[in-house]
Amino acid sequence: MNLKKFKRYPLTFGPTPIEFLPRLTKAIGSDVEIYAKRDDCNSGLAMGGNKLRKLEYIIPDAISSGADTLVSIGGVQSNHTRMVAATAAKIGMKCVVVQESWVPHDDAVYDRVGNILLTRLMGADSRLVDEGFDIGIRKSWEDALQSVRDKGGVPYAIPAGASVHKYGGLGYVGFAEEVREQENQMEIKFDYIIVCVVTGSTQAGMIVGFAADDRADRVIGIDGSGTPEKLKKQVKEIVDNTAKLVELGRIVRDDEIIINPDYAYPAYGVPSNETNEAIRLAARTEAMITDPVYEGKSMQGMIDLAKKGFFPKGSKILYAHLGGAPAINGYSYTYRNG
Ligand SMILES: Cc1ncc(COP(=O)(O)O)c(C=O)c1O
Repeated sequence: MNLKKFKRYPLTFGPTPIEFLPRLTKAIGSDVEIYAKRDDCNSGLAMGGNKLRKLEYIIPDAISSGADTLVSIGGVQSNHTRMVAATAAKIGMKCVVVQESWVPHDDAVYDRVGNILLTRLMGADSRLVDEGFDIGIRKSWEDALQSVRDKGGVPYAIPAGASVHKYGGLGYVGFAEEVREQENQMEIKFDYIIVCVVTGSTQAGMIVGFAADDRADRVIGIDGSGTPEKLKKQVKEIVDNTAKLVELGRIVRDDEIIINPDYAYPAYGVPSNETNEAIRLAARTEAMITDPVYEGKSMQGMIDLAKKGFFPKGSKILYAHLGGAPAINGYSYTYRNG
């Protein structure tokens, strides 16, 4: 496998810490050990998160294309558009982001706080569009690209979640390599990796990275999209493309791609009571803040699977914390009493 041949523009601090979570482990109480890899603390750029690992491999292509404007898309409280806006500010490009109404919400300040506040603060041209949730390529995004061209600019297109970009999976191949090195230093080996999956390239990159030591099926994706069939197809495409790029040397089989659809209810961006309980438990035992759209759902999935005995006794579980805490500000009513 060869990741080194790709150019990488550093946007993160470097390897992210892995920490043992003793109080969460005890609260779950299922004879498993819970660790977290803190990709939510990976950078000084506007609170960081998983998109920066992906963008590190995309930005060299954007720069060499001669572009002057990064153009991307997400929901109103998108972490991804925040990270694209941050990257544009950091490298001195302009930024246009389309923010669609992916989440039905009832919070008065939903479109003014959290991610979208930071996005606007960093100077991005944030355009609110009234379209529902879809992880595919959108017309509103094509329109935004054209609007940059119409003004004489040179856009660089970054799809939702930086996922179906040709280099979108590379960053999380790097994550797997990093985990392997940390396992050697810590003299432990993780039996499972838990990851929230919505647009797909985070898990797809991990699958390719961990396929190198035959652990792809230990990466348990917890769906947050609520559209698992479409998602599985997208993850598979990104896995195949990324495996080819890094010369994995074999095809990743369908049965190595594990996505659990059970925790995305009631809808993308809408937390269930069980999601909220999981968010509270992580906050109250470890002061680890997870959000109602992504990490809260993977936290819920991990806790429930552990309690159900899905993980054999003694398993070491690595929870990939991918960021996303700023979105919690858009849910002030939900958490008004904690
Ligand atoms: C905080 C957070 N967690 C998880 C995900 C899911 O990652 P991916 O879209 O690569 O599946 C995202 C982005 O969609 C995110 O912002």
